[in-house]
Amino acid sequence: MGLLDDIDEVLIPEATLHARIRELGAQISSDYEGKDPLLIGILTGAVLFIADLLRQITIPAHLDFMAISSYGSATESSGVVRILKDLNQTIEGRHVLVVDDIVDTGLTMDYLLETLKARYPASLRVCALLDKASRRKRHVPIHYRGFEIPDKFVVGYGLDYGGTYRNLPFICVLKPEVYR
Ligand code: IMP
Repeated sequence: MGLLDDIDEVLIPEATLHARIRELGAQISSDYEGKDPLLIGILTGAVLFIADLLRQITIPAHLDFMAISSYGSATESSGVVRILKDLNQTIEGRHVLVVDDIVDTGLTMDYLLETLKARYPASLRVCALLDKASRRKRHVPIHYRGFEIPDKFVVGYGLDYGGTYRNLPFICVLKPEVYR
């Protein structure tokens, strides 16, 4: 059995992802002209997205990563967040763009933004590939949004279930029996 056998439905095909990421890259390039932005990718889910997004940005831009753990079950976050890997640099006075795979309840991003704000960046914005807006528990300002998706647990293109499925090149929903 291969990975493809576990898929119920492809929500966002590869070509659609890449077309939207090109648009996001163009918008970010225009908005941050002359600002030398620092893109912060949130490990591990955002790695594929930020790698493709960065290649669509046509102005000088810097890259750093943070790893955070969000306590909870495999499919629900609790809002209790711990920094596992911090940035390699200070962000005071920098134009910071946080890049994540998905904003679901918003608990993780809300905590992260509060943490980063306390370090006095010149500006702080969020770019999220996916937005599960119907599940929001905390308001999170998403300046750059790839797609709004329904309340379904999705995998692929960096997103995992139990560590698997990140390498699928599209966003999809797994068969119900896989989640059991
Ligand atoms: P939040 O704190 O509920 O917004 O959840 C944020 C994190 O939960 C994301 O960065 C993902 O790592 C994970 N997550 C939320 N929804 C999904 C999903 O549908 N598939 C895979 N991971 C998800």
